[in-house]
Amino acid sequence: MFKTVTLGEDEFHVEIRGEGPPLLLVHGFPLDHHMWDDLANLLASDFRLIIPDLRGFGQTTGFREESAMSQMAVDLERLLEGLEIREAVTFCGLSMGGYVGWQFWKNHRSHIERLILMDTKAVADSDEQKKVRHETAQMVLAEGMHALPEKMIPKLLAEQTIAARPEVVKALSEMMLRQRPQGVAAALRGMAHRPDVTPWLADIDLPVLVICGEHDAISPPEEMAEIANNIPAANYAEIPGTGHMTPMEAPDLVAQAIREFFEPAEEEV
Ligand code: MLT
Repeated sequence: MFKTVTLGEDEFHVEIRGEGPPLLLVHGFPLDHHMWDDLANLLASDFRLIIPDLRGFGQTTGFREESAMSQMAVDLERLLEGLEIREAVTFCGLSMGGYVGWQFWKNHRSHIERLILMDTKAVADSDEQKKVRHETAQMVLAEGMHALPEKMIPKLLAEQTIAARPEVVKALSEMMLRQRPQGVAAALRGMAHRPDVTPWLADIDLPVLVICGEHDAISPPEEMAEIANNIPAANYAEIPGTGHMTPMEAPDLVAQAIREFFEPAEEEV
């Protein structure tokens, strides 16, 4: 089922499906809720999936000069309220969705009971990365989205996915091309200004699952394993043969890691 929730002047588009504990799936950049389609097919029998398009992406409106990660977290909190979801959710975010996840934990703690961080970073951008983000924002505003797939796909997917899974390459490329430049530019500026959350990690007081693709070129396994090491109750799962887009590249393995995360710990004897 698809819903449109009006929050102030903005319309938020969200897919809701399945039955079970609520699991909020928050997409990466520059994508929309469809990046979760294959994983959602596998998890809908176990969870109530809440799969929004973030501000300025997919069919959600809300264009601003800058979409701060903290603003996106506020949006999600208001969206849950608009959907009358009162129980605490598991927040699962990939990459930019993970940046929003840190903010959701920090500022909306009572709405969250578990955290799944996929292929994301805790550190802020370097000056060089910020510069590239601002240049990319200018480029998409001036020229549209057409140059992004060629630039980004080699960093987002493992070489073996690109070679053997043309349908994943196609789905990812089409998803990028249909995003609107204003929303993309606003998110680029928001990501450029996001804080270094490394000092927060030791205080994260929830069960956490950190998932990383074996060949993730953007948030590599060493960096993500270090994030998991710094969070008191974190498990780390590496997904073989995948790059940055683990749920699109190996949805079955990601679904299995998520199910295991929810299994009750074995009783000590
Ligand atoms: C994403 O997948 O959301 C992006 O890689 C995030 C980023 O550009 O830092």
